[in-house]
This record gives sequence, C-alpha cells and structure tokens, in this order.
Amino acid sequence: MNIIGFVGSPHKKGNTAWTVEKILDGAREQSASTQLFYASETDIKPCCGCLGCSGERGGCVIDDGMQDIYTALEAADALILGSPIYMGQMSAQAKAFTDRLFAFISPRFSPRYKVDHAGKKLILAWTQGNPDAEKFRAYYDYTKFMFNMLEFDTQEVIVAGTRSGAASEQSGLAKLLKPIGAGLLSK
Ligand SMILES: Cc1cc2nc3c(=O)[nH]c(=O)nc-3n(C[C@H](O)[C@H](O)[C@H](O)COP(=O)(O)O)c2cc1C
Repeated sequence: MNIIGFVGSPHKKGNTAWTVEKILDGAREQSASTQLFYASETDIKPCCGCLGCSGERGGCVIDDGMQDIYTALEAADALILGSPIYMGQMSAQAKAFTDRLFAFISPRFSPRYKVDHAGKKLILAWTQGNPDAEKFRAYYDYTKFMFNMLEFDTQEVIVAGTRSGAASEQSGLAKLLKPIGAGLLSK
C-alpha cells in the first residue's frame, strides 16, 4: 500500500507534522510505503482558475512543487491531509493544496473526470489550540463531506487540541495515531 501525507502547517516540526508523521509511522510498521510532503518546504501556488486542467492537455499547468505531489498521488492508495486550524478553518497552505486537487480529480461534472483517481482512502488530521474537539465539528464535517463528494473515502477525522501542550507531549494521542495508520492496511 502506498500512502502519502501532506502537512499543511508552516511548521515542519509542529503539532500537525508530528500528528501526520505518527499516522504514517503506524502504516509503515505494517509495511506500507509512505511519502510525506511539508507545505513549509514545497512551493505550492494557489490555483489560478485557468481551467487548463479541463482542456485537451489535462493536468495542472502550474509548474511548481505540486507536480511531484500529483505524481505521488497517482500511485497512492491513501492520503493523510493534516492542517492546523487557522481562524476556524484549514490553513491557507492546506487550502492551496486542496484547490489544486481539482486538476488531479476533476469532479464528475467535469469532462476530465478520472475514474481511476476515485476511492482513495483519506484521513483528515486537524490540530487546533482549542481543547474542545467539538468546537469546529461543523467545519470538520463539511470538509469530510466535500472530500467525499470528490470521491475520497474518508476513514478517520482526527482532532488534536494543543493549547495545553504540544501534540507530541500527549501520550494518549501517540497511542491513538499509530493504530489509525496501521488500520489503513486492514480496511
Ligand atoms: C493564525 C492562527 C490562527 C489560529 N486560529 C485558531 C482557531 O481559530 N482556533 C483554534 O482552536 N486554534 C487556532 N490556532 C492555533 C493552531 O491551530 C494550533 O496551535 C495548531 O496546533 C498549530 O499547528 P502547528 O504546530 O502544526 O503549526 C491558530 C493559530 C494561528 C497561528
């Protein structure tokens, strides 16, 4: 099984990175191949809305770090998308990544719809300052709905509150994340 992760935080060693890394560790221990991309070291420009991806050529015309992610996603069975909550929503980095998926997925209403890209497993991993995991539930549910509409198969939605301590210092969280990654291989 091939699994890729994307850390939509500007911090390479922050809460979101740690959370996604732990999930991937669990999957790797079950012999999955994993690849991890960090927003902090990948140049991902916002979608420019040219709809070049809907034309004859297909694919995204923007020549940046997203091209390597498209290639990795092509071979991936699952995606772990991690983002910190900024002002009640995903970070701008995670949103740029998400918008750029349009070129890869082309939803069913587009003539470029790629049936072989549908059904990839997805884990959404959120970190937020607020300790109340229900605080942004409406947004988490909406994001899951949106990805399911794009025909991802959302397996888990993880929420880690970080105000009282870094994600890496929460022993309960560490115990939870690896089995979630490992579980991707058994579903
Ligand atoms: C600009 C900004 C906006 C934030 N907005 C929220 C918010 O609306 N709600 C919340 O609970 N935490 C908020 N946070 C806290 C982050 O979500 C939290 O610290 C997260 O764990 C950071 O992840 P990182 O270490 O991977 O960057 C915000 C942090 C920043 C920097």
